[in-house]
Amino acid sequence: MLNAVTDLSDPALWARPDLPEIIDDLRGEGPVQLTSTAEDGPVWSVISYREAVQVLRSPVVFSSEQGSLLGSGEGLTPAGVGKMMALCDPPRHRELRAPATAAFSPGRSRAAAPGILEMARGLFDRALTEARVDLVDVVSALPLAVMCDLLDVPEADRDMVVRVCDQAFLGDTAEQRRAGHQQLIPYLLHQVMRRRLDPGDDLISTMATHRIGGRLLPIEDVVLNLDNIVVGGVQTVRHASAMGLLTLAQRPDLWRLVQSGSVDMDSVVDELLRWTSVGLHTLRTATEDVELGGRTIRRGERVVVWTWPANHDPEAFTQPHEIIFDRSPNRHLALGLGAHYCIGAPLAKAELGAVFSAAVERLASIEPIGAPQYNRSLINFGLERLPALLTAR
Ligand code: HEM
Repeated sequence: MLNAVTDLSDPALWARPDLPEIIDDLRGEGPVQLTSTAEDGPVWSVISYREAVQVLRSPVVFSSEQGSLLGSGEGLTPAGVGKMMALCDPPRHRELRAPATAAFSPGRSRAAAPGILEMARGLFDRALTEARVDLVDVVSALPLAVMCDLLDVPEADRDMVVRVCDQAFLGDTAEQRRAGHQQLIPYLLHQVMRRRLDPGDDLISTMATHRIGGRLLPIEDVVLNLDNIVVGGVQTVRHASAMGLLTLAQRPDLWRLVQSGSVDMDSVVDELLRWTSVGLHTLRTATEDVELGGRTIRRGERVVVWTWPANHDPEAFTQPHEIIFDRSPNRHLALGLGAHYCIGAPLAKAELGAVFSAAVERLASIEPIGAPQYNRSLINFGLERLPALLTAR
């Protein structure tokens, strides 16, 4: 039966202060429920950790090839299926992901971490010269700069690339965002063609010259995957940074704890990732009839794993509605799991660690001005703006 009580696809739900109670009530209806969505019709909603793991660990039974995110509309499949790693199932998925893995290795991210920390310090030092700031703006510059480094964007193009990405992700209207995106794609295409002829040691070159069975990847596939990486790596870090900072700003006890250096920064990052769960959902489509949480999912039906409820499931996390920095283990699903586990996870963690470390190092406090203004995104849930007063440490 369709659960009509709560529309989990309404972004406003995830900003509600009584979210923990709403989700805990919903658990009474079972771990997997048939719910309606405004744009995509009925879907199976997974709100428990165990069933979320079952779905994410079975990429063939729960396929990404009909889309991995809500919002393309009922019965519609997004562009890029079969070409973008996020929209491919094994074995094709492995072939497309392989060339990018080295660029995102934990070793590479560790090596980049000191530079990223310096960048984050610079952002807060500059922000401190302003009377009031928008913290979302402040932290946005970091993932953009890191992305330019990753793609080895030539110095002369950086301002343009940052401006275009900014427009693609932060533009006020859908049209402005589309226009930004339409400039990014040809730029990536140009870079791919250039680096095919004269490859360097960067991600674009690696992907541009990658061969499968002796044949170069089609240019379109390379560009789509690079675009996937840019999209995946900028918005998410922006929102996870701003939401993490807001969480710390609202809890002076936690701010002081992090500032004291007595908690491990990696654990702080993981717990804030779990707590904020900015990547709100992942979508899959069943390729066969399958049992999930006591329900029978029929072939072709859509299944949505809701990250926040899974990450706050009392069966998987003790005191799930508390922030516990030394939570161990902390097997949250904020970065996904299984075959599609976030390829940028080590880099994302390095960036978040840098933002939180630099914040408590440079600032005595962040005082938000007014109530938080959340965005209305189901993909990267976060803050539209975070006007705040900063006090230097
Ligand atoms: C806090 C920041 C981030 C969060 C919360 C996040 C979240 C996620 C999640 C949940 C998935 C799995 C999607 C699925 O199963 O369908 C994913 C995949 C992915 N992420 Fe991230 N991500 C972050 C940062 C990054 C960064 C920094 C990059 C790249 C620079 C990146 C690139 C990707 C790509 C390309 C995939 C697709 C992987 C695949 O399908 O094999 N992400 N991310």
